[in-house]
Amino acid sequence: MVASRVQLIKAGREYKARCPFHNEKTASFWVSPDKQFYHCFGCGAHGTALRFLMEHDHMAFPEAVEELAGRLGLPVPHEGGGGAPRPQDASLFDLMARVTQFYAETLQRDERAKHYLTQRGLTAEILQRFAIGYAPDAWNTLLRRFGADEPDRRTLGELGLIIEREGAQVRHGERHYDRFRDRIMFPIRDSRGRAIAFGGRIIDRGEPKYLNSPQTALFHKGRELYGLYEARLARSSLKRLLVVEGYMDVVRLHQAGITYAVATLGTATTAEHLTRVFRLVAEVVFAFDGDRAGRGAAWRALQHALPEAREGREIRFLFLPEGHDPDTLVGTEGREAFEKRLDGALPLSEYLVRELSAQCDIVHADGRARFAEAARPFVHKVPEGVYRELLLARVAEVVGLAPQRLQALWAGGELPAPAPASVAPRAGRSVGRGSLVRQAIVRLVRFPATAGSVTDAERAGIDDCSEPGIDLLRALLDDLRERPLKISAQVLERWAARPGGEHLGSLLKREAVLEDELAAAVELRAVLVKLADSVQDRRLDALLAKQAATGELSETELTEFQRLMNIKAGRSR
Ligand code: GTP
Ligand code: MN
Repeated sequence: MVASRVQLIKAGREYKARCPFHNEKTASFWVSPDKQFYHCFGCGAHGTALRFLMEHDHMAFPEAVEELAGRLGLPVPHEGGGGAPRPQDASLFDLMARVTQFYAETLQRDERAKHYLTQRGLTAEILQRFAIGYAPDAWNTLLRRFGADEPDRRTLGELGLIIEREGAQVRHGERHYDRFRDRIMFPIRDSRGRAIAFGGRIIDRGEPKYLNSPQTALFHKGRELYGLYEARLARSSLKRLLVVEGYMDVVRLHQAGITYAVATLGTATTAEHLTRVFRLVAEVVFAFDGDRAGRGAAWRALQHALPEAREGREIRFLFLPEGHDPDTLVGTEGREAFEKRLDGALPLSEYLVRELSAQCDIVHADGRARFAEAARPFVHKVPEGVYRELLLARVAEVVGLAPQRLQALWAGGELPAPAPASVAPRAGRSVGRGSLVRQAIVRLVRFPATAGSVTDAERAGIDDCSEPGIDLLRALLDDLRERPLKISAQVLERWAARPGGEHLGSLLKREAVLEDELAAAVELRAVLVKLADSVQDRRLDALLAKQAATGELSETELTEFQRLMNIKAGRSR
């Protein structure tokens, strides 16, 4: 099996070759047919036949098993498929191969179809590489040619190549008709290069522009990627994949030398696509048309990409200029310029931040609060790990909070859902004036319910605070956490006779507009955190000053110093 992929030289009972896993001039790659084993003395690659297929051909484990079993003529039990081997698949594959061949030959004889493809810029070589063909303009070509008897017609039907007429339509003539008529045929191949379905494009104009095979025993639309087989064939080691939207895009990109392009089949990118893709490569770029539909498709791809994001993987998004798709772009500007665009594609984190911040007007504090809320479900879709931490840090940076504060805030989970855009606060005003204590008080009085979103830890953080007004803030906060109120008037009334209560009304009047409760809650908590931080900073300063003056700290002071330093390090991480 290795022999079909690497040039082997016999050496006693073993064989040797130049290692396919690293670049070398002399042969240090050994294969032992007896032991069904390979080993490279140069780079250390070694393993069994299965491993060879997985490493060299980038096959996933099940595919590799199937390939090997196929060579040995063994059936492979399938998950979900009832566990039974499917002997009938062989005849399905066989017929697909013959139909593909027939369409390809028909193309060579049809001047109009050939002219169309030439005018679209495709060369004879690329047509062959993708086995592109043409389905003649008739109702019964396949029927005549491949459907001589009933079993054959049943196979054609199972493959979705012919369609059964409704009862009333069967007057004279045949009960079936060809699905694909007068279309350019793009065979969709599985990982072993076997045609399993077709995409058919109308020549020039007409509806629908593309017609695909239906789901069949061989073809599951949400799983296949057009061009993947060709991409794997083109390079012994695939590093990145470019996911585009169209058949034409893939073919044209391959022709231009970008042989790592694949396309989803007229469906959005599915989770299954992505699992497959990441079994093969660690770097994926999605390219989308710059129009509205393209942006929608990109946003859907992002949703599926988040669970796959992790350290070591690179997921990026490329938006093409309006009115262009990869086909037209690579046609006009060529491979190098197109690959430059790829290099500049937006990383997933930046795409996410860009989209959400455009929706939230992050120039203002209330917009940033909404941004924080909007980002939460996205960040949580990413599996725990380094990548998630980085994404969290990026979001926190935009919000203007330390990452762990943002996380604590999210974990609190008591924030109301983000307001729909129509009731979003007036842009241009946010409450940023006054001392921290005063900012917190104003928010509490304006939206008393925000007290309920403050965590015990956040409340405890201001225990040692000594800012002016802090007593009033603590009393107000404790009161509202214990005996919640809904509106400002109730607060003013309850506090009318209490110490400090007389200031509340005027304080509220003097402060600028504040209309978003969610924003107020986020800001209140952020202010409390800042206050706690400042307490710690002051305490640190005091300890440092003492250390400088006296030259030593007590055991307890040292422990405290250490603890505060740790908190500070966590804060700025
Ligand atoms: P050209 O117009 O020939 O350049 O093809 P294209 O691949 O650029 O087509 P387009 O960008 O319009 O669509 C992208 C992909 O969406 C296609 O390759 C198809 O997979 C799918 N698609 C487009 N139109 C249809 C349609 O009418 N029906 C179905 N089922 N799929 C379509
Ligand atoms: Mn196109």
